[in-house]
Amino acid sequence: MNRYLTNNWVNKSLLLATAIATVLSFTQCTPKQTATVSSVPNTTPQADQSKGLKDYFKDDFYMGVAVSSRSIRTDSALIIKEFNSVTAENDMKVGVIHPAENRYNWKNADDIVAFAERHHIHIRGHNLLWHKQGADWMFVGPDGKPASKELVLQRLRDHIHTVVGRYKGKMYVWDVVNEAIDDSQDPNVMYRENSPWWTTFKSPEFIEAAFRYAHEADPNAKLYYNEFNSERPVKREKIFALLKKLKADHVPIDGVGFQAHWTIGRPDADQIRKALDEVISLGLDVQFTELDMTVHENPVEVVPGKTPVDPGFTPDVEAKQIARYKMVFDIFRQYKKHIKAVTFWNVSDRGSWLDSRGGGSAGDPIPNPPVFIKAYPLLFDINNQRKKAYWAVVNN
Ligand code: G3I
Repeated sequence: MNRYLTNNWVNKSLLLATAIATVLSFTQCTPKQTATVSSVPNTTPQADQSKGLKDYFKDDFYMGVAVSSRSIRTDSALIIKEFNSVTAENDMKVGVIHPAENRYNWKNADDIVAFAERHHIHIRGHNLLWHKQGADWMFVGPDGKPASKELVLQRLRDHIHTVVGRYKGKMYVWDVVNEAIDDSQDPNVMYRENSPWWTTFKSPEFIEAAFRYAHEADPNAKLYYNEFNSERPVKREKIFALLKKLKADHVPIDGVGFQAHWTIGRPDADQIRKALDEVISLGLDVQFTELDMTVHENPVEVVPGKTPVDPGFTPDVEAKQIARYKMVFDIFRQYKKHIKAVTFWNVSDRGSWLDSRGGGSAGDPIPNPPVFIKAYPLLFDINNQRKKAYWAVVNN
């Protein structure tokens, strides 16, 4: 039996009770409740249709969204109205922008930068070093054998100077290093070892180097370490250890990106607060860089020959998503002094990167063969309309 469906049936009565209680409480809410922070979500739409997320949160932090060279055309009106920060979802990654040693693909990245500048939208750079969507050529020497550490460092420096240099003064932040910490529950394995970076260096030297090169190239850009599942206790401690080391070594790091690929069931508020407190204790800023909240609490398990049934965006999961979006934004507001931006990963439920991997979240196993199940993880629905969760985060 499909574990995902089984869990749904097991949880059904609990979800139904939550939905009824939450829906009942919504109907009793009025906009007047926004004066104090209530634990009950208020999903009443505000009357002023001219405002977007960036306006509702203007005293708190930038509101951002991941975009592509396509979405800045197809969803431009929504992006311009709602957001004041953008991140290129893929178009600035090393393997995409620099696919061969002497070849750069500037077109899509340039289009995104031009779009943002035209509409006075801030731009996050993403990213300069990752184990995925990288450039294989960086790790191959002239003789076809693995490149030396020295050659890889020289290529990394050239890459960072070229890309950061091209957009110098245009990016307010760069995700310099992405996901270098091991994602397992094993506290003794600190760094991600299934990475060409680790294979080449066997030490965090490449992490420090990337930050130093980025700082050389644009001393005014804020430099971030970006990671997922950062709130899980074991991984949180590994990240904290890395950050302490970077600070002790005077590496020019300014902040930490919490990717925030979450679900309607996790993480809990205490885990988020604890992770924030640790980062802030080191004098670092925070951004939530890739926020989404899939309605699937457990990954889809594929049974050969059977197509998993997608129950869709049911009232049950809607109520849970509303409550959790409110919970996390209440925390964001409490910590706003330390948070520069909150960025959603994709524009609307019409198209999320999670859909094509079975609707599960980051770190979940990807169904094989691939299964398309919608995740409904964002604040705008499949028709680009504001969901109730939108109003639950706006009204506080
Ligand atoms: O552009 C090619 C296209 O030419 C080709 O025909 C097609 C066939 O599969 O693939 C297209 O590339 C895909 C690309 O997205 C653009 O759509 C890749 O296969 C696909 O793997 C890639 O996925 C991206 C993923 O990073 C790669 O790991 C997602 O869009 C992107 O949302 C996701 O973003 C990452 C963040 O950068 C870092 N944090 C995690 C997050 C989710 O993995």
